[in-house]
Amino acid sequence: MKKLIAILLTASLAMVAMAESPSMSPSSPDGLRQGGTLGEVTDAPPIAGDPRTVKREVRNYPEQPPVIPHSIRDYQVDKRFNRCLDCHSREAAPSAGAPMVSVTHFMDRHFQVRAEVTPGRFFCTQCHVPQTDAEALVESDFKPIDQVIREGDRGETQ
Ligand code: HEC
Ligand code: HEC
Repeated sequence: MKKLIAILLTASLAMVAMAESPSMSPSSPDGLRQGGTLGEVTDAPPIAGDPRTVKREVRNYPEQPPVIPHSIRDYQVDKRFNRCLDCHSREAAPSAGAPMVSVTHFMDRHFQVRAEVTPGRFFCTQCHVPQTDAEALVESDFKPIDQVIREGDRGETQ
């Protein structure tokens, strides 16, 4: 009997501890979805806004898909229509003043360069996201490649 009470007590203390932690509740084991359960509807978090100053960002490493420095609201991209290519295609880029999609966007799976953007690169927002002022969901110790190289030169990396 004593053993059972001890088990129950430990279990309830653990639950209290979980419920009190701000990022972890029993219903959101990954800590990202705060509060609520699958069946319970809570208020949606506010949608992140456009940052006040948008400009083309330096890429953190050469193969990074650059983040989009402009709003893409109402830009339609579907099977038949691609608004992005109205400005970023080979033909349209110079007159739109937009950077042309790079040559990788024309390569098929055999690295053969085709005349048109290949299906693997057609749905632009699979890889490119607009810049927003959203807070990071989780902490990150990511370092841009230049910092990694600098620290490596100084022998700081393990
Ligand atoms: C009306 C024309 C127009 C449309 C439509 C458009 N863009 Fe752009 N985009 C631009 C211009 C102009 C720039 C360059 C902005 C600058 O230099 O500050 C740019 C920049 C970018 C960049 C940054 C490139 C880099 O090297 O930093 C990305 C990525 C991008 N656009 C993706 C997209 C995607 C994805 C879409 C569709 C959802 C889209 N754009 C639709 C005009 C457009
Ligand atoms: C599968 C991922 C992926 C998709 C889909 C994709 N891109 Fe990219 N994009 C990249 C990567 C990675 C880079 C940077 C390296 C490179 O050029 O391949 C890039 C580079 C760019 C650049 C910069 C080019 C330069 O030379 O500075 C533009 C502009 C761009 N993409 C626009 C687009 C548009 C518009 C679409 C949709 C038609 C698109 N991308 C679809 C991954 C993608």
